[in-house]
Amino acid sequence: MATELILAIEISQPNRAKAFLGLAKQLKGVNVLQWQSRTAEKGVSAAKTIPDIILIDDILESDDLLSRVQAIKENFPKTTLFVVSENKDHQNIISVMKAGAAEYLIEPVQEDLLYNAIEEVRAKLASSGRLAQGRIYSFVSAKGGVGSTVLAVNTAAALAMGKKSTVALMDMSFQSGDASVLLDIVPQNTIMNICENIHRLDVSFLRGVMSDHSTGINFLPAPANPEDSEDITSEHVSSILNLSKKLYDHLILDCGSMHINDCSLEAFKHSDKVFVVTDMSVPAIRNTVRLCKLIRKFGISLEKIEIIVNRYIKGGALSLGEIEKNFDKLVYWLIPNDFSEIVSSINRGVPLVKLSRNAPFSKNMFEFVRKFQGALDDPEFRGIRGTFGKSI
Ligand SMILES: Nc1ncnc2c1ncn2[C@@H]1O[C@H](COP(=O)(O)OP(=O)(O)O)[C@@H](O)[C@H]1O
Ligand SMILES: [Mg+2]
Repeated sequence: MATELILAIEISQPNRAKAFLGLAKQLKGVNVLQWQSRTAEKGVSAAKTIPDIILIDDILESDDLLSRVQAIKENFPKTTLFVVSENKDHQNIISVMKAGAAEYLIEPVQEDLLYNAIEEVRAKLASSGRLAQGRIYSFVSAKGGVGSTVLAVNTAAALAMGKKSTVALMDMSFQSGDASVLLDIVPQNTIMNICENIHRLDVSFLRGVMSDHSTGINFLPAPANPEDSEDITSEHVSSILNLSKKLYDHLILDCGSMHINDCSLEAFKHSDKVFVVTDMSVPAIRNTVRLCKLIRKFGISLEKIEIIVNRYIKGGALSLGEIEKNFDKLVYWLIPNDFSEIVSSINRGVPLVKLSRNAPFSKNMFEFVRKFQGALDDPEFRGIRGTFGKSI
């Protein structure tokens, strides 16, 4: 199924065409085509493709906008049509919309307005099954401090640094969310803004609440006051995830540590994978075994649950084999111990995969995202090589 939305830009005025092409090309997940003037009116055989959106401008001097809109809608009945114009006349706007334009954007067009209109179309196409929906990956740990936030943030950043993927990170560690610290974001809005106005939830509201990060991540922060988290329900979580997966290729959820509740269970139900993070200590492993059993008891299949051993040290007190004996499946991924680099990345508020791409931890994270996307050359590889470079 298509993962990219096709946007055809047919703008006659050269400067305006350049500006819109520039704006559109900044969007990930959009395949931008530049059409010559009147291509859309000539129909599918001239255009050679059926785009999801056609963006035309109003050629004021030719004064035939209405008939152009009608012709384009006849040629491309399923395509959404946007019109850009300098003409602010209300009657004209109404006629153009009636003729079939979905958006009438008045010059100078605000970037956000254009982007939201495009994302609105993306959500509709994902709802109707014409565009693929995003995948959801949750991180949870049985014990605080084993690294679920560090891993969620760096996984999201590693995905977002790829050229194509659109990525959202949601801090679902509602009582003690600290993903914003790792991203050095002082949240203007949090998930509470959505929960308090859930009836208003739509594409532009969601995008307006989320914070943009320089890695390309769109971030939804946890509540500023831990006590507010009591007002967040599983229905809120479900609505947010259902809409978000129509907009983003990947959703990464930091579901926190120690306990699970209705909201985290809802997140797990929506997730393609639930990564349960542990370190190699006996208490962490014991709690991880219990947490995995609990998650399964609530109906999450073993297939979805994957164990990640963070801060893996070869020759530690427990061997990997000894650790694995406790679980119903093999450990999915091992992550090296990289304390000083991680601490310095946390202190600077820059995910390590961005701060230092070649750090052992970062290389491991880039391979990890390839692993769960099924893109590793050696699908058996688990993050750290053993003797003679073999997969452990
Ligand atoms: N791979 C790693 N190597 C070294 N230190 C790590 C690693 N992952 C996490 N840490 C350390 O563990 C601390 C706790 O991580 P964090 O992600 O906040 O845990 P959690 O979210 O599970 O409570 C971090 O501040 C960091 O110092
Ligand atoms: Mg945490």
